[in-house]
Amino acid sequence: MVGLQWGDEGKGKIVDYLAGGFDAVARFNGGSNAGHTVVIGDSKHTFHLVPSGALKGKQLLIGAGVAVDPAVLAEELSLLPGEARERLLVDGRCSLVTPVDKEFDVKVEEARGESAIGTTRRGIGPSYAVRALRLSPRVSDLVAGFDFRALTRFYEELSLDTSGIGPWAAEASELLRGVAGDVAQRVTDVTGAGGSVLFEASQGTLLDLLHGSYPYVTATHTTSSYIPAALGISPRLAGEPLGVMKCYSTRVGAGPFPTEIGGPQAESLRGLGKEYGATTGRPRRVGWLDIVALRYAVRLNGVEEVAVTKLDVLSQVKDVKVCTAYKLQGSEITDFQRASGRLDEVEPVFESPFSLHGADFGAGLPPGGKQFVGYVEEQLGVTVKVVSHGEERSRTIEL
Ligand code: GDP
Ligand code: IMO
Ligand code: MG
Repeated sequence: MVGLQWGDEGKGKIVDYLAGGFDAVARFNGGSNAGHTVVIGDSKHTFHLVPSGALKGKQLLIGAGVAVDPAVLAEELSLLPGEARERLLVDGRCSLVTPVDKEFDVKVEEARGESAIGTTRRGIGPSYAVRALRLSPRVSDLVAGFDFRALTRFYEELSLDTSGIGPWAAEASELLRGVAGDVAQRVTDVTGAGGSVLFEASQGTLLDLLHGSYPYVTATHTTSSYIPAALGISPRLAGEPLGVMKCYSTRVGAGPFPTEIGGPQAESLRGLGKEYGATTGRPRRVGWLDIVALRYAVRLNGVEEVAVTKLDVLSQVKDVKVCTAYKLQGSEITDFQRASGRLDEVEPVFESPFSLHGADFGAGLPPGGKQFVGYVEEQLGVTVKVVSHGEERSRTIEL
């Protein structure tokens, strides 16, 4: 399951909903920059590292592609029933996020000045960067007793404060010792025995390090093709991708956003959709659905099936628009890749091909919902399998 936009598509809700049909849920990318929300009745859970299948009693796997911040993991586990820990397995090959990486993240942002990315400041970029330099411990190295001298020297060259590393390492290895293992082997065993695993992405396709709107992206890969590489499993086990998309667009942090809207209209949409970051609380930038960008995301992920979220939000909005093409210097572009690099210059071409206004989802998919589903299927060449019309778990329709 992957996000098709700029993140926050509602992946947490959809994973929780679908997890019932799986034996395990595995996160495979990103770190605690992610915030995946699950709402059950009046209670709301935000997952940053623990897979969003936690409240469905499933095996919880954190694959090697994830950057693990042990402090966040400990906090999340403290908010879940004690037995959730028994179900958790963290791959020994995972990278770690140290407190120094968080300070490093802030310093890099400061150095960028006006071109700051607006990272979540969770240390994700530095953690993967130090991994690429082969200086950092993996989870298994930390548990075995890691020699931090080279890493500490490197951080000190950058005038970063390393005084907290010793106590951090002691606490982190204590936590991780009980949950570290071989997720790749576990996935292979579960599927080999006829079971199934739901792979949960963080972030969205347009934030992919290689194929997103670089440099305004996250520090890892976010697409379906990364699943086997990140987990260390055969590509044959990765299965069919499901894309999750919101019926309008949001983006947190800086970077081009062709369909962005401002003013009172944006305020209103942000309020109706409660568009505030699940990790940082920042107001999300909001805009209309972008078919050009979505077609690119569908192609990149090989998605044939999608889940659409937040239809209840657009049921409260009149005059909804959809971007079907970009205009760049007088010519019309429908291929996202042709516009990449110049996304901040393109003018969206808007249409109003459906109306969800006033749609009532109480008795199944209403006519406005059917019109929306038909439009998405036709424009993107996909099948809509799930429609979400409220944050609560039960506000979901399977088609
Ligand atoms: P994720 O990062 O993709 O898991 O998405 P987030 O949890 O960061 O953001 C999605 C937000 O929308 C959360 O607050 C969800 O509770 C909420 N949400 C998900 N689906 C729906 C929906 O269909 N309708 C409404 N109103 N809210 C939804
Ligand atoms: P989920 O999984 C939305 C954005 C940040 C910033 C950029 C780089 O909840 O969809 P980073 O901290 O990763 O170095 O920040 O990426 N970003 C997200 N935006 N949802 C997320 O995750 C995000 N994770 C990172 O806002 O623009
Ligand atoms: Mg989120």
